[in-house]
Formats: sequence, C-alpha cells, structure tokens
Amino acid sequence: MKKPDLERVLFTEEQVNQRIAEIAAAISERFAGRPLKLIGVLKGSVFFLTALARQLSIPVKIDFLSISSFGGVKHPGIVRIAKDLDEPIDGEDILLVEDIVDSGLTTRYLLQMLAGRGPNSLGIVTLLDRTSKRLVQVPIDYRGFEIPDAFVIGCGLDHKQLYRNLGYIAVLKPDKP
Ligand code: PRP
Repeated sequence: MKKPDLERVLFTEEQVNQRIAEIAAAISERFAGRPLKLIGVLKGSVFFLTALARQLSIPVKIDFLSISSFGGVKHPGIVRIAKDLDEPIDGEDILLVEDIVDSGLTTRYLLQMLAGRGPNSLGIVTLLDRTSKRLVQVPIDYRGFEIPDAFVIGCGLDHKQLYRNLGYIAVLKPDKP
C-alpha cells in the first residue's frame, strides 16, 4: 500500500488496541448474561466493530446497516437507509457502533429510527468523538478517544476510500493545491 502523507500519528496501534480492550471489558461486564447485538454503520465502523467484538468476553450477535446522505450542505443529517438491518431488534439489547461521531446528526437519526423498533436497550459506542463538530447532542455510552478538528484516517476512517485498514489513527497532510 502506498504510504499516506501524514502530518502526525494521533494514536498508535498499541494505544488503539489498549483502549478497545478497556471498552470491551466495560461492555462485557455490563452485558454479562444478556444477549447483546452490535449494529455497525457501514463502512467506517467495520474495523472497530470486529476489533471490539474480538475483545468481548460475552457472545454477541452482529448486524449492519448502511446509509446515504442526500440533504447536502443545506440540509445536513437528512439520510436514507441504503441497506437496512437483516433482522428485527425488538426486545434486544443493542449497541450502535460508530467509527466517529462528528455533527451527531447521523447518530441521532439512527437512534430515533432504531428506538422505534422496540429494542430492550439502545446505546452508542464510538471509537472517535470529534466534539468540536457537534451540532446535536447524542448520548454516547462508550468512546475511545476525543480527537481535534483535523482530517483523520485509519481504523475505518478513509481518505477517498483509502487507508481504512491502517491500525493507527493519524492526521493526513492537507492536499497540496
Ligand atoms: C461517518 C461516520 C458516521 C458519520 C458521522 O460516515 O461513520 O456514520 O460520518 O458524521 P456525523 O456525526 O457528522 O453525522 P461516512 O459518511 O464518512 O461514511 P463511511 O463510514 O462509509 O466512511
């Protein structure tokens, strides 16, 4: 793979794995004895979801959904379900898994939609939290790291669909004009 032009590494692979292990331990304790389902939002959350699931000491189900935004800059947060969940979630304990929460609009929309399907509980776990971009408040249950207002790649986050598979989180150098 061509190496990305990095400004700096924010969190090394070791730091990321350590933090995911801490979150997994907290989730495993909270949901011990209860069947838990992780719901990933494609595509960014795939890497975090699988890393998290591997560290859990409890059995989990997984499902995925995919959304596409069509509101544009004038109506951000208006999204369409491009791929819905495969199974219903009524009566289940659900954790929505995100790679990053920025404005919070995507998460808020998904929480409202999923809540309407009657889960027993519904929480959010995100690897990254860029609070400086927040437009609406969302109740995040578990978060890996807060990050500054910079363009980051790795651990599911992409630049032009590349670099999602990096094991670390880094700030990309701005494109040269
Ligand atoms: C990212 C991320 C969240 C959303 C968060 O997805 O995975 O779903 O943006 O942004 P918000 O808080 O401002 O709504 P993206 O649209 O980049 O798609 P991808 O996961 O396929 O890269």
